[in-house]
Amino acid sequence: MIEAPDTIQRIEKDAKAQLEAVQTAGDLEAWRVSYLGRKGAVPLFLRGVKDLPLDQRAHAGAAANALREELEAAFGRKQNELGGETTHEDPIGKYREGGEGHLHPLTLAIRRISNILSAMGFLIVEGPEVEEAQYNFDLLNIPLEHSARKEQDTFYLSSHPELVLRTHTSPVQVRAVLERNIVPPFRIASPGRVFRAERTDATHESTFHQFEVLSVGENVTIADFKGTVETFYSAYFQSDVTIRLRPSYFPFVEPGFEIDMSCVFCQQKGCRICKHTGWVEVMGAGMVHPNVLRNMNVNPEKYQGFAFGGAVDRLVMLQHGIYDIRLLWSGDFRFLKQFS
Ligand code: FA5
Repeated sequence: MIEAPDTIQRIEKDAKAQLEAVQTAGDLEAWRVSYLGRKGAVPLFLRGVKDLPLDQRAHAGAAANALREELEAAFGRKQNELGGETTHEDPIGKYREGGEGHLHPLTLAIRRISNILSAMGFLIVEGPEVEEAQYNFDLLNIPLEHSARKEQDTFYLSSHPELVLRTHTSPVQVRAVLERNIVPPFRIASPGRVFRAERTDATHESTFHQFEVLSVGENVTIADFKGTVETFYSAYFQSDVTIRLRPSYFPFVEPGFEIDMSCVFCQQKGCRICKHTGWVEVMGAGMVHPNVLRNMNVNPEKYQGFAFGGAVDRLVMLQHGIYDIRLLWSGDFRFLKQFS
């Protein structure tokens, strides 16, 4: 008696080799008949399963059924390759006429940001969107009672309460340095998607994008920070940009700032975008808190650094004069087509 697994393996090997050689629709039909047709190898094998010893039947039957499904799928793929008739309607076919698609404005912005920062000597790293609360909050010196940790601000995973949809890109600071064993001096940057339980409006989305920038070394100062940010924004907007720093509070920096950028639309003459102030708020920033440096295994007595978290979506809005952030996620073709 033939051993069942051997036989099915032989059929599989044979069928796949034969399919490789198929060149025409006629060959393909002949292939289908010999392996999947009523008297084909796989159905014949299946019919013989009942005659096998009891302890082999279940295994052999399952293997043959799996092979049948696999060969049917391979048949479909080959049929498409050969340009044969398909019974399924192509659901997006009617949209193909409009020509090729293009990248989303947010993707283009993230690439532009990464290119500029990389040219400025920053290593681009990525972190997970589903993050451990420890990295999103604790290691950034954000205490348990901080309002940002409340359920009305943060999406928690009900099955894993220790996991959150990251609320900012700052967790990448500690994660990347620890995971990659990075030692000072270093410069890293990390663009990515973030999530907040927001009530949305024209400038707030519940899913948006940030880019985190971190520079640590022996003599990194606020002057370096200001120069880096101005160079970055001037390159992004290809126009001379100045920034101003306002005192602010983030638990993971000391001192902390809110950064405003001079309005690139009206050159500070006053317009709708800057609400006639000449300044647009673009990011949170500060000098990295000693506790956070320690959490990165960096000695705060010897090293210091700056960090900032810019908003990609707001940058895209400024760049293109988009008045409502929600358009970016609307999937509205009329809107998206403007950025090809
Ligand atoms: C932060 O998220 C800090 N992690 C930034 C930071 C990094 C500070 C490093 C210090 C050092 P904040 O919550 O302010 O900060 O968000 C940063 C920027 O994201 C804001 O300036 C704003 O431009 C943008 N932003 C905040 N909430 C939203 C939202 N719901 N939709 C779109 N953009 C938003």
